[in-house]
Amino acid sequence: MRRSRACGIGPRKEKAAGTLSAVERHLLTRYGSKEGALAYRHKYERSLSRRLSNRRELGVVDRALDEAGVRGRVLDCPCGAGRLTPTILAHADHVTAVDLSEAMVDEARSALAPLSAGGRLDFAVASVDDLSFEDAHFDAAVCHRLIHHIADPAQRARVFAELARVTKGSVVMSFSDATTFKHRLQSRRGRKRRRVALDPEQLREEAGSHGLVLRDRPRRLNGLFSLVAVVVFDVARKASDVA
Ligand SMILES: C[S@@+](CC[C@H](N)C(=O)[O-])C[C@H]1O[C@@H](n2cnc3c(N)ncnc32)[C@H](O)[C@@H]1O
Repeated sequence: MRRSRACGIGPRKEKAAGTLSAVERHLLTRYGSKEGALAYRHKYERSLSRRLSNRRELGVVDRALDEAGVRGRVLDCPCGAGRLTPTILAHADHVTAVDLSEAMVDEARSALAPLSAGGRLDFAVASVDDLSFEDAHFDAAVCHRLIHHIADPAQRARVFAELARVTKGSVVMSFSDATTFKHRLQSRRGRKRRRVALDPEQLREEAGSHGLVLRDRPRRLNGLFSLVAVVVFDVARKASDVA
């Protein structure tokens, strides 16, 4: 029988401070304030090289959404300041933009105000591993630039499982790829990394154990010198769906 939760769409209470994981506390220190959220909103516009790499990144995500056949009702979590949301909205009928940081959601709401008017966009403050949506509420989900912050495999497992629960089609996700030239170079130099890099096979196994089936090879965000890559997962059909 499918698990379902007695709650609708829309904002859920923020996680109580005591229940936040170490990574959530770290990310909220960085992105949880008005200043942090504003800085992130403008981070990708600060220089020509940032703008170019942002454009390339959005292009990679756009192609992944296209090839995944993303449409219908889509979850963007974490949405941050709404950087990817317009790209997702170009494929979707409706996007729900969700982030753990209320300040980020406020920035996204203000950045995307012109797009919100059509009623195809709504926002919520929530954690990706504890969402207040019914099972299979979304046709697809996008989880961009989050998983590389999560060092604890048990927490990653909760994220995979929750995305698989609320989605019925595909999940587009970025991760730091341990097989990239940049990662190997950084490892050889003994550089201390903030990001958690995963081998694609490890990602396939971890996500596969929680209902997300890796569809194809990772696409690097910025070619040879990229650390971050994007993958598409299909949500495994549940026995109850088949019956
Ligand atoms: C690097 S930003 C990425 C935002 C957006 N996807 C982008 O690429 O511009 C990471 C975001 O993850 C959010 N975050 C951290 N932990 C989260 C969680 N457990 N659930 C939802 N959002 C979370 C942070 O507040 C921050 O906005």
